[in-house]
Amino acid sequence: MTSVPDPGLAPRLRAALTSADYTVDAVDDLLGDSARAALQRHETTPALRRTTDRSPLATLVRMFLLQAPVDRADADRALPGLVEPLSRQGMLLATTDQVRAALDCRPYADDARGWWVVSDLTPGLDGQPIRVDSDHVLGVTPASTSLAQLTTRHEVARALDLGTGCGIQSLHLSTQATDVVATDVNARALAITAFNAALNEIAIDVRAGSLWDEVRDETFDLVTSNPPFVISPATEGRRLVYRDSGMPGDQVVEAIVRGASAHLAEGGWCHLVANWAVHDHHPWDERLAGWLPDDCDALVVQREVLDPPAYVELWLKDAGRHGGPGYLEAYDAWLRWFEERRIEGIGFGWVSLHQGGTARELVDHPYVVEQPVASAIADWGAACRVVVDETSRLVLRVDVVQETHGEPGAEHPETIVLRQRRGLCRARQVDTVEAAMAGACDGELTVGQILDGVAVLLERDRDELATAYLPPVRRLVREGYLSPL
Ligand SMILES: C[S@@+](CC[C@H](N)C(=O)[O-])C[C@H]1O[C@@H](n2cnc3c(N)ncnc32)[C@H](O)[C@@H]1O
Repeated sequence: MTSVPDPGLAPRLRAALTSADYTVDAVDDLLGDSARAALQRHETTPALRRTTDRSPLATLVRMFLLQAPVDRADADRALPGLVEPLSRQGMLLATTDQVRAALDCRPYADDARGWWVVSDLTPGLDGQPIRVDSDHVLGVTPASTSLAQLTTRHEVARALDLGTGCGIQSLHLSTQATDVVATDVNARALAITAFNAALNEIAIDVRAGSLWDEVRDETFDLVTSNPPFVISPATEGRRLVYRDSGMPGDQVVEAIVRGASAHLAEGGWCHLVANWAVHDHHPWDERLAGWLPDDCDALVVQREVLDPPAYVELWLKDAGRHGGPGYLEAYDAWLRWFEERRIEGIGFGWVSLHQGGTARELVDHPYVVEQPVASAIADWGAACRVVVDETSRLVLRVDVVQETHGEPGAEHPETIVLRQRRGLCRARQVDTVEAAMAGACDGELTVGQILDGVAVLLERDRDELATAYLPPVRRLVREGYLSPL
């Protein structure tokens, strides 16, 4: 087990990383597109070929990102006076000639800010066998990024990062919250988050505790969680704490969702990325709807569904079990467990809860969205609270286009689809009345006046039209095609 350096060393490390210009942009420039892409595929050779100038920046990249040994003299130049103390405290492995990294340390950025993130080393570079300890602390993963892009970025007083890992969500939360609380059950994760807080000169209240335990009596304006959501029998002796909650099935996600409302302040948001079991006898959306708090608007977006073999293979490979002893038995036992529970798929997706409402939307949406999707989620939250009646003045969102399909030359289209080109990039099939109403929503006329006009145009009963079409108009508002003036 690699120890974690004391936060007291962080200011000197920060100074060295700053002086070496160890930033996302500088590293990207040094590596170039194809070496960077190769590194994303866990191949280091192209990047090794681009980092031979022995500059402090190249040395840091070789040491931390490529996990290559560097000359002691180069390491001393890149980290002046730090090789000895960082080696004593477990972050580096140094001999008189060479230095290697024992922990990862890399630049990370959003649109406005840059940080450095220390974590455990990425396993499996260059096809090496994947070996991770049970208390392994992940760096920034696609799931971390997905949660960061889902999280609404309005300013808040108090934010909670539940299951902080290396503290990546807390770094983001620190840009918008006065107080950030980060919890985890893994002592190494907490130590790494505390170090990262010091390294980035950010205050994070780091606490040991499971799920909601450590914040039992507290409320937050914003909660984010990328929990250990892997759905497994939880019978494997060796649990990887970053992905295995120790609770069978998807109970960890259920517990977070069910518990959220008690910890959300009025108007507060909770966002999580999660997996859930899809049973052959119980539609996924009905099952998840049963978990949702009564006093929150809830948007659940199912992005992908994997079948059980694909899922088992993914996570056995993630743990380095592929081809190892007991692989076939573990694969078989996991599939049997899915079969016994009649789990036919595993959903991957997002859950957003907004305290103070009762709207529900559970949607299959495997399509490309505009990232960061958070602003579309915030718009959804606002739209849920809009009252639409005949006095409302609505406008069609500027990115919405109408697509018609049908026989060439036919008088009327067979189908009409309204499509968003931004945000969640939704598409909805509408009928001619809905399309006419949406097209007339330019903010000048009220919904009632538009109904008057459409009734005359189509020679339909005005009141019947209102009864039939106010609900679809409300749905178009909630889904973001129309918005109030
Ligand atoms: C998938 S990692 C997410 C890390 C980080 N928040 C991110 O977004 O990348 C899940 C984290 O949850 C922690 N964890 C596991 N069981 C937990 C529990 N019962 N309560 C709180 N955190 C837990 C793990 O130690 C791990 O750090």
